[in-house]
Amino acid sequence: MRPGQRVLIHAAAGGVGHVAVQIAKARGAYVIGTASAGKHEFLRGIGVDETVDYRETDFTEAVKDVDVVLDTIGGDNALRSLRVLRPGGVVVSILPGGSNDFHEEAERLGVRGLRMLVDADRSDMRAIAELAGTGKLRATIAGTFPLSAAAEAHASGDTGRTTGKLVLVND
Ligand SMILES: NC(=O)c1ccc[n+]([C@@H]2O[C@H](COP(=O)([O-])OP(=O)(O)OC[C@H]3O[C@@H](n4cnc5c(N)ncnc54)[C@H](OP(=O)(O)O)[C@@H]3O)[C@@H](O)[C@H]2O)c1
Repeated sequence: MRPGQRVLIHAAAGGVGHVAVQIAKARGAYVIGTASAGKHEFLRGIGVDETVDYRETDFTEAVKDVDVVLDTIGGDNALRSLRVLRPGGVVVSILPGGSNDFHEEAERLGVRGLRMLVDADRSDMRAIAELAGTGKLRATIAGTFPLSAAAEAHASGDTGRTTGKLVLVND
């Protein structure tokens, strides 16, 4: 990601999304984030330049000329996200499955579609620690649960509505 590039982050208030927003901003990107309207103030607070209320607006009509999309939603969201890219752009989806047409459609449009698991290495973790150390990256805590209440934490995560990260602590 280079300074000035346009980045679309889906579920930008989520555990992954709110961290991705801050990393993209630290790298000088122009960040567009999707969330329901009640979370747009939170998004602006973490640096999002442009918000999209995915419940009211079809992002494929509201957003264009994007260099990088982070898909954290799954289903056909990765496939649909290919349409908002500029030539040479990339959709990175961290969800498995979805449409079998994803890669074929990317090729047809002259863009790239990637599916990946998080694969952290030492230098990535050091770069993230540096951002955290300088205050450019702050984790929002959606809730803290003792390990004995891990099931409750999972239930909270399963709502798909939390803002930030859920934290488990030793009892
Ligand atoms: N591949 C990997 O290595 C990897 C790593 C981590 C996570 N994941 C996966 O990535 C996904 C996201 O994880 P997460 O922890 O960030 O999830 P999360 O924190 O549970 O996401 C919750 C957020 O998603 C938003 N949201 C729900 N539906 C949306 C939609 N259609 N459009 C836009 N925003 C929407 C909600 O906002 P509203 O309340 O406004 O709807 C909420 O703020 C999960 O499926 C997780 O399993 C994969």
